[in-house]
Amino acid sequence: MFRYEYTTTTFLLLFLFCPMVMSLLSRNQTKTMINLSNHLNVSDWNTNNKDSNPCTWNGVTCDISNSSVIKIVLSGSSLSSQSLPLLCKIETLQDIDVSNNHLSYIPNEFIDACGNIESLKLLNFSGNVLTDFLPTFHGFDALESLDMSFNDLKGSIYLQLDEMVSLKFLNLSNNNFTGKLPTNLGSSMVLEQLVLSNNGFEGTIPHQILSYKNLTVIDFMANNLSGSIPFNIGNLSKLEILSLSSNRLSGEIPMSLMNITTLVRFAANLNTFTGAVPLGSTKFLKNLDLSYNNLSESIPEGLLSPSQLVLVDLSYNKLQGHVPKNISPSLVRLRLGGNLLTGEVPSLSCEAGHNLTYMELENNQLTGLIPPGLGSCRKLALLNLADNELTGALPSELGNLNNLQVLKVQMNKLNGTIPIQISQLVKLSILNLSKNSLDGPIPSDVSSMANLTVLDLQGNSLNGSIPSSIGNLGKILEIQLGENQLSGAIPQMSSSLQIALNLSRNHFSGNIPTSFGDLVNLEVLDLSNNNFSGEIPQSLTRMAALTQLQLSNNKLSGDLPLFGSYVKIDISGTHVTNNSNVSPNNSPTEEKNGKSVVVAVLIAIAAAIFVVGLVTLLVVTISRHYCSVNDQRVQSSEGENLDLPQVIKSNLLTPNGIHRSNIDFSKAMEAVAKTSNVTLKTKFSTYYKAVMPSGSIYFAKKLNWCDKIFPVNSIDKFGRELEVLAKLNNSNVMVPLAYIVSTNNAYILYEFVSNGSLFDALHGSMENSLDWASRYSIAVGVAQGLSFLHGFASGPILLLDLSSKSIMLKSLKEPLVGDIEHYKVIDPSKSTGSFSAVAGSVGYIPPEYAYTMRVTMAGNIYSFGVILLELLTGKPAVTEGTELVKWVSRNSRNQDFILDSNVSRTSQAVRNQMLAILEIALVCVSTSPETRPKMKTVLRMLLNAR
Ligand SMILES: *[C@@H]1O[C@H](CO)[C@@H](O)[C@H](O)[C@H]1NC(C)=O
Ligand SMILES: *[C@@H]1O[C@H](CO)[C@@H](O)[C@H](O)[C@H]1NC(C)=O
Ligand SMILES: *[C@@H]1O[C@H](CO)[C@@H](O)[C@H](O)[C@H]1NC(C)=O
Ligand SMILES: *[C@@H]1O[C@H](CO)[C@@H](O)[C@H](O)[C@H]1NC(C)=O
Ligand SMILES: *[C@@H]1O[C@H](CO)[C@@H](O)[C@H](O)[C@H]1NC(C)=O
Repeated sequence: MFRYEYTTTTFLLLFLFCPMVMSLLSRNQTKTMINLSNHLNVSDWNTNNKDSNPCTWNGVTCDISNSSVIKIVLSGSSLSSQSLPLLCKIETLQDIDVSNNHLSYIPNEFIDACGNIESLKLLNFSGNVLTDFLPTFHGFDALESLDMSFNDLKGSIYLQLDEMVSLKFLNLSNNNFTGKLPTNLGSSMVLEQLVLSNNGFEGTIPHQILSYKNLTVIDFMANNLSGSIPFNIGNLSKLEILSLSSNRLSGEIPMSLMNITTLVRFAANLNTFTGAVPLGSTKFLKNLDLSYNNLSESIPEGLLSPSQLVLVDLSYNKLQGHVPKNISPSLVRLRLGGNLLTGEVPSLSCEAGHNLTYMELENNQLTGLIPPGLGSCRKLALLNLADNELTGALPSELGNLNNLQVLKVQMNKLNGTIPIQISQLVKLSILNLSKNSLDGPIPSDVSSMANLTVLDLQGNSLNGSIPSSIGNLGKILEIQLGENQLSGAIPQMSSSLQIALNLSRNHFSGNIPTSFGDLVNLEVLDLSNNNFSGEIPQSLTRMAALTQLQLSNNKLSGDLPLFGSYVKIDISGTHVTNNSNVSPNNSPTEEKNGKSVVVAVLIAIAAAIFVVGLVTLLVVTISRHYCSVNDQRVQSSEGENLDLPQVIKSNLLTPNGIHRSNIDFSKAMEAVAKTSNVTLKTKFSTYYKAVMPSGSIYFAKKLNWCDKIFPVNSIDKFGRELEVLAKLNNSNVMVPLAYIVSTNNAYILYEFVSNGSLFDALHGSMENSLDWASRYSIAVGVAQGLSFLHGFASGPILLLDLSSKSIMLKSLKEPLVGDIEHYKVIDPSKSTGSFSAVAGSVGYIPPEYAYTMRVTMAGNIYSFGVILLELLTGKPAVTEGTELVKWVSRNSRNQDFILDSNVSRTSQAVRNQMLAILEIALVCVSTSPETRPKMKTVLRMLLNAR
C-alpha cells in the first residue's frame, strides 16, 4: 500500500511539472497500469513506471492516439494466476498474451471481468502449467483467437467454448484432453483454424465439423482418433491444411478431398488407411504425406506430375507396380521407400530448373540399371536406392551431382568397378555401396571427398590396397571395408575416426600398424579374419576411446597388452596370451574393493585442503589451452598416474548440506588419476568412482570432449551453466553437485549409483536382470525426466547424447537421465564439423541429423524411441550389424520375434503391454521429425498403456 501511494504521488508530481512527457492516456488507465505494475512485479515496468508513459513500457501497446492501452504482452514474466483479474480492469484491451508463465489456473474473476471487455479479440495462455478442466467462457463476444496450447488441461470439451460467437482461431494442442472431438465451437460457425493436435481425443471425426464451412486449418495430429474420414469432407471448400497424422484412422482416403482447390497440405501418415492412393489426389496439393499406412495397389500414373507439387511421401505402405515416370520439376522430395514397387528407377532428365533434392526409393523390388540420367539432377542432395535388386554398374554420371550429400545404393546387385568420378562428390557425407558385387580398387583420390563422414564399402569384391590418401579424410567417422579382397599395406588413418574402422575378412597380412595408436577417438577396431602376424603393438593401448577390439582369427602371437577393463577384446583363433589378471571381458564394475583404498595420511591432507567454494591451488597461465582432449600422458602399466593434474577452479553447487560436507575435491582428483576407478564410459564422459574421506561414494565425471567446452576464459560461464542445472529438482534427472576444472580437464561430481547404466543392465554384466515391471518403470521414469527437461521454464534442456549409456539406474526401477549438461557446456561450433561428435551415439542419431545438423527435441524423442526398443527387444542400439530401428522395421511383420522372449513369454498381459509400448516406440522413431510426438505426449501414452 505504501508503495502504491508513493508511486501515485510521484506520478501526480510528474503530471503537474512535466506535462510534455505525459501520455494522453486517461488518468484512469494510467492509474490502473501503475497499479498493475506494482502488483505484477514485471521488472521492466517497475523501473520505468516513474518517469514514463505506460504506452512505452515493454509489451504494452496503445492505440494510434495513445489514448488507450489495447495490447498487453506479459510472456515469460513471472506472472501469477492471482494477479490475472487485474488485467481485465483495462477495458480497452484487444489482446492479452500471458504465454510462457507459470500460471496454474484461470481464476473465475478473470473469466467474469475479461468476458465483459467488448474489444477483447485475443487471449494467449499457451506454455503455462494450467491443469484441471477447460473453464467455461462466458461473454467474450468479440474474442477471435484463443490459444491454450502447451498446458496440462484435461477432460472433455462440451459447451465450454460455445458462447464465443466470434471465435476464428482455436489452439488446444499439446494438452491432455480426452473424450470426443469438440463440435460446439461458437454457434455462429465462423471458426477458421482448429488445432487440437497432441491430445488424447478419441472416437471418430464428427460430421458436425463439416458445418464450419470457413475452416482453413484442421490439425488433429497425434490423438487416438479412429474410424474413417467423413466421405463429404470435400464440402470444406476453403480448407488449406488437413493434418490427421498419427491416429488410428482407417478406411479409404475419400475422393471428395480432391475437390478442394485450396488444399495445399494433406498429411495422414501413421494411420491404418487402406485402398489405393486416389487418382488426382495431388491435383492441387503441394505436400502429400500418406507414409506408414496400409495403402495398396499401384501409384496412379500422373500422381507426381502436377506442376505445384513439392513433397510426396508414400513410404512404408504396400504399394505395387511401377514408379510413375512423369515427375514434376517442382517436386523437391520424393519418398517411396518400404513398399513393394517393381520395375525400373524412373529415368529422369532434369533440365535446368528441376528441383528434385531428396529421392528415396529404398527397400522395394526395383530392377534394371541405375539410370545415368540421374546425373543431370544437379540439386540432388540425397539419393537412396538401397535394398532393391538393381544391377549393372554404378554410372559415372553420378559424379556430376555436385550437391550430393548422401548416396546409398547398398544391398543391390551392382557390379563393375567404382567409377573414379565418384570422388568428385565434394559435398558427399555418407557413401554406402556395401553388399553389392563391386570389384576393382577403391578410387585412389577418395580423399577429394573432403566432407565424407561415413565410407561403407563392405561386402563387395574390392581388391588392391587401401589408397594412402584415405588418411586425409579429415571428417571421417566410420570406415567399413570388411568382407572384400583387399590386401597390401594399411596407410595411416585419419584421427577423426570415431565410430568404427572395420578391415575384417580381407587378405591383410604383416604386423598391425603401430599408427592405430593415434586413433584416440575410435571406439571399434575390427581386424578379425585376416592374416595379421606378430605381436599386438603396445601403442594400441593409447586408443583412449576404444570399447571393442576384434582380433580373432589372425596369426597374432605374444602377450596381450594391458587395456582398460571396459575394452571388449576378442583374441579367439590367435596365439595371443592374456597374462593380465583382469580378463578382457570382465565388467568394469566388478573391481576389487581393496585396490582403491587410499592411505590415511592422504585423508588428513585432503581434509586440510578442503574448502567450501572456490579453491585455487595454482594460478596457471590462463591463456593456455587448458583441456587436453585425449590425456596423452601415457599411464603407467598399473594404469595409475600419481602425478595429479592441477586444479584451476573447483566449486560446490549443491545446496544439500550432507553433500557439501562429504565432497572433497582433492579426493576426487586422486580418484580420477586411477584408471581402475573408471566405472563407465559414454561418448562424451568417463565416470570415475570417488570414495570421500567420510566413506560416501560419488561419481566424478570427466568430460572427454573438453576441447569442445568453453575456452578457458569462459570457465565462469561453464560454472554459471552448471549452477542453473544444479537447481533442477526432478527425481529422474541426475543433477551436478560440484565441479572441478583442472589444467587438463573438467570434472563434474554426482551422487553415485551402484546399479550402473541401463546399458549394463540390458546388455552388460547384469544381462537379463530386468523383468518387465522394471523395464516399464524405467521407460516411464526416463520419459518423466525428459519431459521435465524439455519443459524447463527458461528454455528446453536437450540431450546431446541420449542413449542407454547415459541413463543411470538408482535402483532396477528408478532411472536417472544423465549427461544433461552437455548441451549447455559443449560448444558445437568447436566440433570441427564431425557431426556425430555432437549428435550422440551410433544407433541413436535421428536420420534428419544428416541434413539439419541440429540437436532438437524431436531428435531426443527419436533417441528415446531407440531406448524403448532396447527395453522391448533386449538388443543393443546397433544389432546384427545394423541400427536397431532398422532391424525392428525389417522384422516388423513378426512382432513376437522382435520382443525379448525371456520377458514377453512371462504372461499374455506382459506381451500385450509390450506390444502397446512397441507402437509408441515406433511413433517416436518416425523418419519424419514432425510426426514424432512431444515428450509430454509420449509420457501420457506410456502411462495409458499400463
Ligand atoms: C475509472 O475506473 C473506474 C473503475 O476502475 C470506473 O468505474 C470508471 O467509470 C472509470 N472512469 C472513466 C472516466 O473511465
Ligand atoms: C465465413 O467467412 C465469410 C468471409 O470472411 C463471412 O462473410 C461469413 O459470414 C463466414 N461465416 C460462414 C458461416 O460462412
Ligand atoms: C467434385 O466436384 C464436382 C463438381 O462440383 C462434383 O460433380 C463431384 O461429385 C465432386 N466429387 C466428389 C467426390 O465429391
Ligand atoms: C524450384 O524452387 C525455386 C525456389 O524455391 C522456385 O523459385 C522454382 O519455381 C522451383 N521450380 C519449379 C520448376 O517449380
Ligand atoms: C493424462 O490423462 C490421463 C488419463 O486421464 C492420466 O492418466 C495421465 O496421468 C495424464 N497425463 C499427464 C501427463 O498429465
